[in-house]
Amino acid sequence: DRGNYRHFMSKEIHEQPEVVSHTLARYLDMSTGRVTLPEGFVEQLGRVQRLSIAACGTAYLAGLVGKYWMERYARLPVDVDIASEFRYREPILGPGGLSLFISQSGETADTLSSLRYCREAEQTVASIVNVEDSTIARESDLILPTLAGPEIGVASTKAFTCQLSVLAAITIAAGRVRGVLGEEDEAKLVRALIEVPRLMTQTLRLEEQIEGIARELSRAKDALYLGRGMNYPIALEGALKLKEISYIHAEGYAAGELKHGPIALVDENMPIVVIAPSDMMFEKTVSNMQEVAARGGRIVLLTDAEGAHATGEQPFARVILPRMYQFVQPLIYALPMQLLAYHAAVSIGTDVDQPRNLAKSVTVE
Ligand code: F6R
Repeated sequence: DRGNYRHFMSKEIHEQPEVVSHTLARYLDMSTGRVTLPEGFVEQLGRVQRLSIAACGTAYLAGLVGKYWMERYARLPVDVDIASEFRYREPILGPGGLSLFISQSGETADTLSSLRYCREAEQTVASIVNVEDSTIARESDLILPTLAGPEIGVASTKAFTCQLSVLAAITIAAGRVRGVLGEEDEAKLVRALIEVPRLMTQTLRLEEQIEGIARELSRAKDALYLGRGMNYPIALEGALKLKEISYIHAEGYAAGELKHGPIALVDENMPIVVIAPSDMMFEKTVSNMQEVAARGGRIVLLTDAEGAHATGEQPFARVILPRMYQFVQPLIYALPMQLLAYHAAVSIGTDVDQPRNLAKSVTVE
């Protein structure tokens, strides 16, 4: 039931504060400020040399955020692979290893084959799934459910942010057991996560402004999305969302990679969405942004009040998000990505919930 929403995608975007809150409540103990994950799993996170993650599409991009998080906050080396690549490159997996799969449906063929490959290699298999009675869930040693509820829109939205919520909890648990995060650090990161639903609600209030920008975007033939660090996968996700539902060609790039090729594409017809919250990466990203502005690119800057102040009054579209801990940025900056794609598609008139050529669950390889 779509309720009062025009599309399931819109309904699911707006459900995020609630379903993320449910998912977090499952993994965080609000009273003690600690993460609660199955003990054996946490113990293994402390013991392993590395973690390997495999998934497809948006779930893969969640895994990529997980890599940035776990390497930074838990000093746990992480390999992330697209599942269709993982299984054929025959990754070298030492005995006693740990692998993690991420899937909304729990039925994605390539993710499932990767999981079976890991089982054969005697890895412990954990999975983040939204459908608890799915094949991937059944074949895993341990499941970490996302409580997103059924996702009907083909383009994944709420499942993605719920996957990020679980990965954030894993990151904190890994940081603690690996001796990287002290009790204070853990409590601080947990508090930051608890703020996420409220920050999401605030961000969703920017929808009207984002809709106006999306109408502009919908006239473009191509678009670039730039981000750095843990927001680089969010740039990739923004481009993926736009492609799949509006059919506008879009590419996500690590902001620093721009000058190594893609900047050649930039002219006055090229919209460039820049994710640049005010953090350690801010100045670098802004200097990449100025490179494209100088070539006439039409910039859409996503930042916070401090970032907006630092870039001064410049003639580009600007969306000002609330301030937040760097740790939770990917969870919040994902929302304007979804809204930009959604409103661009609505404005073009494509079938938002059932884009051409796509299926909700990809059970063929
Ligand atoms: C993109 C999208 C797909 C899925 C991918 C994996 O919006 O929905 O890229 O993320 O097909 O699907 P699951 O998570 O079911 O394994």
